[in-house]
Amino acid sequence: MDGNGRWAKQRHRPRSFGHRAGQKAVRSTIESCVKRGIDVLTLFAFSSENWQRPKAEVGALMELFLKALDREVDELHGYGVRIRFIGELSAFAPALHERMQRAMDKTQANGKLALNIALNYGGRWDIANAAKEVTLAIQRGELSAEAIDERSIAPFFCLADLPPVDLFIRTGGERRISNFLLWQLAYSELHFSDVLWPDYDEACLARALEDFAQRERRFGKI
Ligand code: FPP
Repeated sequence: MDGNGRWAKQRHRPRSFGHRAGQKAVRSTIESCVKRGIDVLTLFAFSSENWQRPKAEVGALMELFLKALDREVDELHGYGVRIRFIGELSAFAPALHERMQRAMDKTQANGKLALNIALNYGGRWDIANAAKEVTLAIQRGELSAEAIDERSIAPFFCLADLPPVDLFIRTGGERRISNFLLWQLAYSELHFSDVLWPDYDEACLARALEDFAQRERRFGKI
């Protein structure tokens, strides 16, 4: 979800204004996904690198996440959305961490859209974390080092219980993955949009899905 800052700058407003507008685009995208029967939506809301932004911006984003959690969880639960947060969540303030856990517990039995929100997430962190978990499994005697292959380590990555990622969308004009789901994106189709995230609407999503529908997916075969 890239482009909040530039969207605000174009309007001579602070970056936090762009993040607040971005939140509306999050809401409308979730609604579009529910409406279209999309099974899984994973949003990159805060990367491991985003802590390096000015303190005030990080604070404003945290405040936004907290308020969004308080305001939106019940409605999402009503839609049948299952919320999950991925990333190193222990780094967040206890109040925020606790609310995230509560949202996950409350919605865990829901079967409509699986909504994953990546917070303090990095694809390299995910890989390092999987390596740690694999090592611990070996120490516990549940896995042998000789048995390590792609299939045996796959369950240790975030979102392992969900189908492979079909489509990656990045808004805001950059053509980069920027440390999002590195392992999980191995065979995903990549779609880049120049639209700044706060302007991302149903028509943009429809364009991305049409683009996806044109792709021929061979998964390395001919
Ligand atoms: C990237 O734009 C966006 C972010 C770092 C924050 C994303 C957060 C939201 C959309 C707010 C709401 C989210 C939830 C889940 C409630 P940028 O600031 O890097 O924009 P720029 O590239 O134009 O500077």
